[in-house]
Amino acid sequence: MAGTMTRQAGREDDSKAPASVFAATPDDTAELGRRLGEIVAAGDCIALCGPLGAGKTCFVSGLARGMEVEGRVASPSFIVMRQHPGPVCLYHADAYRLTDARELEEAGFDEWLEEGVVALEWADLVAEALPPDALFVRLEYEAEGRRIAFDSAGPRHAETIEAVTQCGRSE
Ligand SMILES: Nc1ncnc2c1ncn2[C@@H]1O[C@H](COP(=O)(O)OP(=O)(O)OP(=O)(O)O)[C@@H](O)[C@H]1O
Ligand SMILES: [Mg+2]
Repeated sequence: MAGTMTRQAGREDDSKAPASVFAATPDDTAELGRRLGEIVAAGDCIALCGPLGAGKTCFVSGLARGMEVEGRVASPSFIVMRQHPGPVCLYHADAYRLTDARELEEAGFDEWLEEGVVALEWADLVAEALPPDALFVRLEYEAEGRRIAFDSAGPRHAETIEAVTQCGRSE
């Protein structure tokens, strides 16, 4: 790690405050994805949220590297989903052009999750389709870089979040 990333722990007075990391560069964003990619398992839903150009696809490029899957990661917004075979298959999907959550389900969302890891951009647009234990990765613009926060409603990803956000200095 170049040492550019800084972690912000969830505030002690608010156990729901998500752990977040400041990513100063695209490489930092991808590096966080790579760390997550080394840990994920079939059935995991990575729900990427954040405005246009926040770095969702960049994060998935690192995720793909960490998972050691095949193929070049590119925005799947026009094709809904791009499959990357590997030790565990990565289904890289994008809800931006979908009308509703049902369209995602019709495209095969549940089958993708049974077989591999799903990384879904614009996941907040289809919140009803997401499993309750989805791991949310929320990217926001901050200064010249991005703040990337991780949270999940269930206990499934608690250790994963801890591992991915343990980098650099604490703020
Ligand atoms: N931490 C960062 N600091 C600065 N720029 C970044 C950072 N992370 C990613 N970027 C840059 O932001 C731009 C947009 O990235 P990307 O295409 O991944 O965003 P996106 O959220 O997938 O966009 P879209 O909403 O169109 O799907 C790219 O040029 C990428 O290099
Ligand atoms: Mg994108």
